[in-house]
Amino acid sequence: MARAQKNFVCSTCGAVTTKWSGRCDGCGEWNTISEEKPLSQAGPAGKTLGGLRGREITLSNLSARDAPPPRTSSGLGEFDRVLGGGLVPASAILVGGDPGIGKSTLLLQAAARFAGAGLKVIYISGEEAAAQVRMRAQRLGLGEAAVKLGAETNLRDILTTLEAEAPDLVIIDSIQTMWADNVESAPGSVSQVRAAAHELVTFAKSRGVSVMLVGHVTKEGQLAGPRVVEHMVDTVLYFEGERGHQFRLLRAVKNRFGPAHEIGVFEMTGDGLSEVTNPSALFLSERDTPAPGSVVFAGIEGTRPVLVEFQALVAPSPHAQARRTVVGWDGSRLAMILAVLEARCGIPFAGLDVYLNVAGGMKVSEPAADLAVAAALLSAREDAALPKDCVVFGELSLSGSLRPVGQTENRLKEAKKLGFSSAIMPARSKAGEKSGVDIRQMGDLIGFVGEVFGAG
Ligand code: TYD
Ligand code: MG
Repeated sequence: MARAQKNFVCSTCGAVTTKWSGRCDGCGEWNTISEEKPLSQAGPAGKTLGGLRGREITLSNLSARDAPPPRTSSGLGEFDRVLGGGLVPASAILVGGDPGIGKSTLLLQAAARFAGAGLKVIYISGEEAAAQVRMRAQRLGLGEAAVKLGAETNLRDILTTLEAEAPDLVIIDSIQTMWADNVESAPGSVSQVRAAAHELVTFAKSRGVSVMLVGHVTKEGQLAGPRVVEHMVDTVLYFEGERGHQFRLLRAVKNRFGPAHEIGVFEMTGDGLSEVTNPSALFLSERDTPAPGSVVFAGIEGTRPVLVEFQALVAPSPHAQARRTVVGWDGSRLAMILAVLEARCGIPFAGLDVYLNVAGGMKVSEPAADLAVAAALLSAREDAALPKDCVVFGELSLSGSLRPVGQTENRLKEAKKLGFSSAIMPARSKAGEKSGVDIRQMGDLIGFVGEVFGAG
């Protein structure tokens, strides 16, 4: 009898090989390859799942109405907003971010708030000793909060404790330190992270407990354990910010219970994180006199408008290859805008170093910022400032025409609220008349250059 061929599958990228190896040729991950038993050996050939009958499942209609999930507010408005309006029972949430960005601080503060709102909260730290966490809590003025604390990394012991305690919310800080004793690899490895997250999420779902997992981000900007945790949980939040800046953004990149791309803004102070309810004011630097190269963009982050300032510097380059340096905006998008300026408006940037920065350490990814970027570059190049009470937004196409963007009304309303009195935006944009802001609409970039800078 011919020997059945063995199949080995990588659990990260799914590559199939006929030979086991320590490292997957497909994705380069270590210790992710395991043998996969062929299905046909499980029962008589030709019969589904070995011919055994299962139980019939109940199907329902889409029209069935369910009550919205009950939510618990922490009272930390910025945190609740990102969750989609509070914590949903039995939900699994991943909070990712760079080491040292403030995840433990945020979750300790949230834990105390949720405990104050009547939930039974357990905080498990696998990174710090209990005394360290207590010390931080006292420094944050949370020494009296009704949060139970454990310092442990053994998953079996943690789950046994949680079973006995039956909390409403568990915080695991961090998933990379958890160790499942049935998996033979080191804590922090892909297999351990996956196993630990799977156990915790399954526990959460079956016992009606909400669980928040802290996950450190690797250098490549991914959560260790190639995003394996991301699809296991209901909600993925990223806590981000520049080390040198005080403000921090909590961003929902996935949310089964609310809008994705929602942001919460915090400021790191000596007494922990405090909420920033008006982020626009924070991101706009002191703007007393109009400065060349500085342009305010009326953006949308999640469901709310945020004004941010783009700053550009253009100078003759001493290098053979001129520099393009970007902070807070996409580098290839900058190259595109420079190319459009050159090809459609005849304004070359060759031989000029270009620096583009988003003030306050904010990151912008909306294409609606194209026009603001182009305006900042032109303003820096021509050494001519835009009026200081003016906001700009609009998407740029390769042909040099301006495309309308969504949520015009919200952008203008926010601009008005922060004392801006005029806006430059694409023609054919919907609405805007009632905003109280003086609007100038442009069809293409050439028109914009002519009207704003008076020349090509
Ligand atoms: P931490 O929550 O430990 O970060 P993470 O869990 O993401 O690794 O926070 C680390 C930084 O925050 C630390 O460098 C000190 C700073 N910090 C403050 O500035 N103020 C505070 O009140 C606290 C608790 C921390
Ligand atoms: Mg921490």
